[in-house]
Amino acid sequence: MNLPGREYDITVGRGLRQKAGEIFRLDRKVMILTDDGVPAEYAEAVLKCSKEAKILTLPMGEDTKSFASLELILTEMLSMNMTRQDCLVAVGGGVIGDLGGFAAACYMRGIDFYNMPTTLLSMVDSSIGGKTAINLGGAKNTVGAFHQPKAVLIDADCLATLDDRQKRCGIAEIIKMAATSNEKLFEKLEKSTFIDILADIEDIILSALEIKRAVVEEDEHEGGLRRILNFGHTIGHCIEASSSFYHGESVALGMLPMCRDSVKERLLGIYERIGLPTEYDADIDEAMKLVSHDKKSVEGGVWAVLCPEVGSFEIKKMKVPELCLLAKRTFA
Ligand SMILES: NC(=O)c1ccc[n+]([C@@H]2O[C@H](COP(=O)([O-])OP(=O)(O)OC[C@H]3O[C@@H](n4cnc5c(N)ncnc54)[C@H](O)[C@@H]3O)[C@@H](O)[C@H]2O)c1
Repeated sequence: MNLPGREYDITVGRGLRQKAGEIFRLDRKVMILTDDGVPAEYAEAVLKCSKEAKILTLPMGEDTKSFASLELILTEMLSMNMTRQDCLVAVGGGVIGDLGGFAAACYMRGIDFYNMPTTLLSMVDSSIGGKTAINLGGAKNTVGAFHQPKAVLIDADCLATLDDRQKRCGIAEIIKMAATSNEKLFEKLEKSTFIDILADIEDIILSALEIKRAVVEEDEHEGGLRRILNFGHTIGHCIEASSSFYHGESVALGMLPMCRDSVKERLLGIYERIGLPTEYDADIDEAMKLVSHDKKSVEGGVWAVLCPEVGSFEIKKMKVPELCLLAKRTFA
């Protein structure tokens, strides 16, 4: 990642966690943050490479992105007498990455942060780019900071323990990036089964990271281009909050109304082949009532990302009723 003064390496490979000491600077005090859904051996691999470390394991799930967790992490770091010269390593999915990154941004006004993502979603998306946050009550990611990691280690072998539904959610985020920004990757996904994608996962992770890296390098603080990473997310968030669909599944559905019919057909083809949902059966009008809570809301509407052709996008401010109409046309 080439951000002036804050460059960092993103290293992708297999079995890399055993080499954490070569990729992260762990010859100091290290707070290793993980959750109880992540196999303990991943955090232990980092512990083995560290000079003086402690593993803090929080309960898995979105509720862990809270002030209570933040206070606990900061208190633990203080009780280890950690200074500004020490560091925090997040070992887990996007929840642990977002929370750990924010704790690192806050402690002593900012310490080094390393990310070892273990879900496919976090490997291709949340682990790079520096967005960190916790939730405020029910409002997602409302308290946070931009705090870039010092290095990111992606060990594709960690996916061996991740369940298939979570893997599909990660693939949905890859499709999201390919649809607007990389036609070749999209075509590759179109020709692949779920098994094919997993067999080629290192290359696919790299292609997705290339897209995100280029976007973040151009627009770190989401003043414009970075909004394309929200493709599918506005309607997706409404669906997620109103159903039992996971985040990635909701984003997959949320992309459909934002595309021209020809793109929609191609997306549906991929979803069917790899096992992502193709329909939202509940009341879409009811779900869309939540759209005004969206962080992307601005005066006069919402920043909407449209995909007129595969490999292209249009970002425009859209009035809420217009967006609701698109959702209704697709799902009603
Ligand atoms: N910062 C960003 O740019 C950004 C981008 C996208 C999403 N996010 C955030 O990411 C979060 C979602 O991330 P997620 O989908 O990774 O969810 P998650 O972190 O909740 O992980 C999903 C589940 O998988 C388990 N798990 C993690 N790794 C595992 C492994 N290797 N084997 C078995 N189980 C494993 C976890 O314990 C958890 O139960 C949300 O909070 C979202 O807001 C942030």
